[in-house]
Amino acid sequence: MYHLSMENVEFAYGKNGILTLNNINIDIRNPQLISIIGPNGVGKSTLIHCMNKILEPTGGTVMVDESDVKNIKVKELAKKIGYVPYTSGDTFPLTVVDTILMGRNPHNKFRNNIKEDMAIVKEVLELMDIVPLALRPFNELSAGQHQRVMLARGLAQEPEILLLDEPTANLDIKHQLDVIRILKKLAVEKHIVVIMISHDLNLAAKYSDNVIMMAHGTVFAVGKPADVITKENIKEVYDVDSEVVMHGGRPLTILLDNEFTEEDAKLPEGASLEAKIFRKTGTAE
Ligand SMILES: Nc1ncnc2c1ncn2[C@@H]1O[C@H](COP(=O)(O)OP(=O)(O)OP(=O)(O)O)[C@@H](O)[C@H]1O
Ligand SMILES: [Mg+2]
Repeated sequence: MYHLSMENVEFAYGKNGILTLNNINIDIRNPQLISIIGPNGVGKSTLIHCMNKILEPTGGTVMVDESDVKNIKVKELAKKIGYVPYTSGDTFPLTVVDTILMGRNPHNKFRNNIKEDMAIVKEVLELMDIVPLALRPFNELSAGQHQRVMLARGLAQEPEILLLDEPTANLDIKHQLDVIRILKKLAVEKHIVVIMISHDLNLAAKYSDNVIMMAHGTVFAVGKPADVITKENIKEVYDVDSEVVMHGGRPLTILLDNEFTEEDAKLPEGASLEAKIFRKTGTAE
């Protein structure tokens, strides 16, 4: 069905009544890639936590495929909604394969179908370019490797809706492109609603079908990238000057800082950097 809606959702962390989220009204239908953008602390992570029942909204309703999430058991919801956190608190020494296998848990209620599970694990290892890491302990990986394993685990869950908190934050530029292309492909080919939080306006603009821009705990703008990522909205929401040019039909944002001049960049005499250059042939591992 692919229908996720939030009606008048609000959320407060404490009992002091300060609302982190307010007046959230969002209706998402059908597979697509959606980016959520907005400044630090604006409520983006809180919003996706309210979508998948990690947090219970203090007001309003969250519906998934016409059922109130309040009435859906966590394990049932996990079959529909996958979630890839920004960083995982997991520190136990599981291998990468075992970590990804955990993503299959919601599907294995009465029996473990290990053959099918392993076929899926193999597929997502290849997709995330982490086959050589398969038997490494998860807690010994670099930040970017860690992130790709968590993405693989989210994919192994085979959800209808996949929520991702800054999935490209730790990735090098090549892996950023690889991952976001995969996310877009999931929407197009596997018919998954992919919702990702991102601070990268240009990545969000190039690949997203729709963008949600948040400010002050609520939705400030929503729609096609070209309608949302504008210099006026960027100024209002981030208080940053920018130039937004169209590139291949998508907005490309160039950040400006007119207050910082070459005069400000001048150092006292004496700063220097020297290094010997040694270039290995072939590409990096
Ligand atoms: N567990 C918590 N207890 C109390 N307040 C919290 C908690 N988690 C987040 N907050 C507060 O709620 C607000 C929204 O936080 P949230 O993590 O949703 O922001 P965000 O938009 O994801 O920001 P970022 O871009 O930095 O990840 C912030 O003011 C934050 O300090
Ligand atoms: Mg966040």
